[in-house]
Amino acid sequence: MLIAHLSDPHLRTDALAAEPAALLRLALGRVLALDPRPDCVVITGDLAEYGHVDAYAQLREVVGRFPLPVHLTTGNHDDPEAMLEVFAGTSFVGGGRSAHYAVDHPGFTVVALDSWRADGPAGLVGEEQLSWLDDVLGQRPEVPAFVCLHHPPVAVGIPLLDGMRLEDGPALGEVLGRHGNVARVLAGHVHRAISVPFAGTVVTVAPSTYRQTSLTLRADQQTGYLAEPTGFLLHVATESGFATHTVAVSAAGGLIGAF
Ligand SMILES: [Fe+2]
Repeated sequence: MLIAHLSDPHLRTDALAAEPAALLRLALGRVLALDPRPDCVVITGDLAEYGHVDAYAQLREVVGRFPLPVHLTTGNHDDPEAMLEVFAGTSFVGGGRSAHYAVDHPGFTVVALDSWRADGPAGLVGEEQLSWLDDVLGQRPEVPAFVCLHHPPVAVGIPLLDGMRLEDGPALGEVLGRHGNVARVLAGHVHRAISVPFAGTVVTVAPSTYRQTSLTLRADQQTGYLAEPTGFLLHVATESGFATHTVAVSAAGGLIGAF
């Protein structure tokens, strides 16, 4: 079992559109060159820079012919309505018309949560999704689940991002703590590879396929984007549980697949 975990492609349709689209395609090409190929790809939000419908149409062009299942979640830069205008009814959102959904793979469950909120860059899941999540996690209690959302529900040590994390993280932790099958919480938002223990499982934050955030650990210093190498995470089932690898993309010598 292999789950490729990409994040924060920030697609756009203005004069700067080419770079993020090319870098997302490069990351997906790297996924495809893995042997064996992953069972699926999850992209944990900030699919689009400005949440415009055109950017989701562009995303559909990039992922539309990708030969592996791709599961999308929304981030603070997204607009769930615009995203669903393009992807509702497709396998990219579990075949439904909602930005939160679950997909049953034979050996694992992908649960996508929508942590977007209209009034700022922080995240919120809300009681309705949490009770839905509780129900979904109980349906296949012996099968590992990957709970995917944009905003980390925990602090990661970068003050600017910690100030805009998931606001109802403790409530999410209560739900996850009631189930023994949550293999990982997959998140994005921070544009760096980070892992943090949480509610009996592990939160893993994937790097951006586009640009990385500075490792700014003090609140009185400026946080910004860096041209550090891009990459993604690969969650690999082993005899000891899931191991999480960071796969380099833009600075890698690895093979790139075509699709
Ligand atoms: Fe982002």
